[in-house]
Amino acid sequence: MERTTKRRRVLVLCALPYTNAVPHVGNIVGSHLPADIFARHCRLRGYETLFVGATDENGTPTEVAALELGITPRELTDALYQVHRDIYSWFCISYDNFTRTSTPIHHKTTQEFFLEIYKKGFVSEGELRLPFCEKDKIFLPDRYVQGTCPVCGYEFARGDQCERCSTLLDPIQLVNPRCKIDGSIPVWRDSRQLFLELGKVQGKLEQWIGTKKEWKEQVTSLALGWLKEGLKKRSITRDLRWGVPVPLKDYGDKVFYVWFDAPIGYVSATKEWAEANGKPEYWKKFWLDEGAEIYNFLGKDNIPFHTIFWPGMLFAHGGLNLPYDVVGLQFCNYEGDKISKSRNWGIFCERVPEAGLDPDIWRYYLISIIPETRDTEFKWEDFKSKVNNELVANIGNFIHRTTTFAWNNFGGEVTSHRRTKEEEELLAKVSVLADEVGKLLDEVRFRDALARVLSIADLGNEFFQRKQPWKLVKDDRGECEEVIHTCLSICESVAMLIDPFLPKSSEKILAGLGSPSPSAEALGKIRETIRLNGKPEVPFRKLEDAQIERAKSLATKSKPVSDYFAKR
Ligand code: 2FM
Ligand code: ZN
Repeated sequence: MERTTKRRRVLVLCALPYTNAVPHVGNIVGSHLPADIFARHCRLRGYETLFVGATDENGTPTEVAALELGITPRELTDALYQVHRDIYSWFCISYDNFTRTSTPIHHKTTQEFFLEIYKKGFVSEGELRLPFCEKDKIFLPDRYVQGTCPVCGYEFARGDQCERCSTLLDPIQLVNPRCKIDGSIPVWRDSRQLFLELGKVQGKLEQWIGTKKEWKEQVTSLALGWLKEGLKKRSITRDLRWGVPVPLKDYGDKVFYVWFDAPIGYVSATKEWAEANGKPEYWKKFWLDEGAEIYNFLGKDNIPFHTIFWPGMLFAHGGLNLPYDVVGLQFCNYEGDKISKSRNWGIFCERVPEAGLDPDIWRYYLISIIPETRDTEFKWEDFKSKVNNELVANIGNFIHRTTTFAWNNFGGEVTSHRRTKEEEELLAKVSVLADEVGKLLDEVRFRDALARVLSIADLGNEFFQRKQPWKLVKDDRGECEEVIHTCLSICESVAMLIDPFLPKSSEKILAGLGSPSPSAEALGKIRETIRLNGKPEVPFRKLEDAQIERAKSLATKSKPVSDYFAKR
């Protein structure tokens, strides 16, 4: 990737989660966690960084979920917004602003966005045949209609998109459509709607995607596949009350289709942050200025919307920055099967805090199953062995043995006087690996980056073992101090490098080492004297079978959404 030496400006975005459900672990590893690691990495490297998100609250998914629960969409979204917020905060997802698409600023931004593309001639009027439920007297949301995919023949394709072949669909295209709630056959009603003329931006999209050499292969090939089929107009309004009202005479009783307003939420969340921080124009630095880089993190089912539909909206609008990278992740399964709330199969985030394990312990394992290039799988056996054999035995052990030795033998204060050639070379190797961690994270390769951190701790462990400081301290105290100083410097690098991955542990270890806060400058520096801040604590403890059993029994039982409203 060609980059200038100017300070990079990065906007990190995570697909906005619907508020009709509570996130499960697949949602965390599939977008929030990678987005968070990337945002933390950008901050650590000194890039001008903003990380925003929101709950996707409008339209049919919410209306139908509220209807099923016998509450209002407002009651549903108010409660679930808080649940989402608490979960992300528990997992230390460092959103600068995590807002909602029901806010006035989002409504206003969406309406202005629409009026701009309307004025520019990208919106047309037409009839749309929509599935209507005669029992509930509502138009069914696209994704509540199920049927056979006209492209690949999958029998359980959703009305908005086939989950097997990812084709974007309209419910009318499904063969044998049925209502997902009660299985009844929907009736089709014509209604007048507005359409986005995607065909008009096909050429621009093709050209743009052609320039995206650094996108993951799976993202580009999906996008090119849709373009090859030729883009058709897509409806952007619905006959509903819950959502962003369409600001046009004759359309006063309609709202925007949820997929139209949701991505505009990226812009409104940025604006809201800027206003709340007393610099209302600052959002433009990310959305208007050339050179700003927008990274979108999302699951594979969201790839078409972020490579075609949203960029198509942006081309129609003009002037706003397109995604720089669309980081489309694959799915994460649970113990051999797809995660499913209805089958109670998976890890359910609302129960994770009760399970009694530290957020960083979860993060460590979850990073190892971020589905970067292919589907991955959560396995408890793996959880235990990754934590015990890597985090505890490698990183934890190195930091603990070094700091304890420094404390017991040098009163916690160690100074470098004259490093040997071997030590110089070792520290140089560490610095090369630390640079590689940065480069890999720039390329959003989380697992490889973390593996490099482990190799640094490996080098440290190997050096400690070979030098046998427990003997050296008796034979040559000066040389021993030099060895321990080298090891402590490596501990400091490791602790800074784990900041994007394990933020709380990084902070705690660095505080114990008396280190400065992690930053690009601090990362390259070796301090002459390292003074520990009190008796060292064990950084990571081994997981026992009983802890795993307890976590498993709690975190695998989902709490029905209705439980959040039981007292009403
Ligand atoms: O699939 C989903 O969960 C959607 N709520 C994602 C929306 S992403 C965006 F465009 F806002
Ligand atoms: Zn299909």
